[in-house]
Amino acid sequence: MSEPEPLQTIAERTLDHYRQSAEAFRAGTRDHDVSQNIAALLKHIHAPSPLRILDLGCGPGRDLKTFAALGHVAVGLDGAEPFVAMARADSGCEVWHQDLLRLELPDAAFDGIFANAVLFHLPSRELPRVLRQLHAALQPGGVLFCSNPRGHNEEGWSGGRYGCWYDWPTWRAQLLAAGFDELEHYYRPSGLPRAQQPWLASVWRKPAADR
Ligand SMILES: C[S@@+](CC[C@H](N)C(=O)[O-])C[C@H]1O[C@@H](n2cnc3c(N)ncnc32)[C@H](O)[C@@H]1O
Repeated sequence: MSEPEPLQTIAERTLDHYRQSAEAFRAGTRDHDVSQNIAALLKHIHAPSPLRILDLGCGPGRDLKTFAALGHVAVGLDGAEPFVAMARADSGCEVWHQDLLRLELPDAAFDGIFANAVLFHLPSRELPRVLRQLHAALQPGGVLFCSNPRGHNEEGWSGGRYGCWYDWPTWRAQLLAAGFDELEHYYRPSGLPRAQQPWLASVWRKPAADR
């Protein structure tokens, strides 16, 4: 059996892909409508506004702008330097330059975490550890939103980026094992036959009291 690829190599190659295509990515995703996902996060948060939101893997900052325009205190985080600069400039929000594999997050600091199209980049062997870090960064009762391209639990390289394409039972088991309670899940884009819905969105709560 071959040795697994070093984690840092996986992260850096994936980030290099985004670094090199940052302008094209921004142009290609600026008008993506993820209002359904933002609404799915916000509707489950019971804390008073303004909410403290972490946009994990914020990319060029499209959704940070939306959270800020709604009056919330949004903080971005991304590992690709061009995106960190774009997101800061475009949104005016604080944006942290961090690698998902080496997160340093404050404890119980956020009412919500928005992880749109990002957690699938984690090698599967690291997902449980990172989910527990996200759990720790949420307030009790806080909410985690995730959206990922779905599949049958394939894992590997695709178009210069590393990814895992989870099915719902596997993804759900990972989140429950990390201590989250299930709120809802749905497939996107809405209104299409399932075969034409490549995205799996899910929403989770950190229980108000530790079990
Ligand atoms: C598909 S993009 C999604 C961007 C944004 N959330 C959106 O919805 O448009 C994935 C994002 O994850 C970031 N990313 C990938 N691997 C990362 C890592 N190891 N550490 C930090 N960020 C990472 C990329 O730089 C990119 O911004």
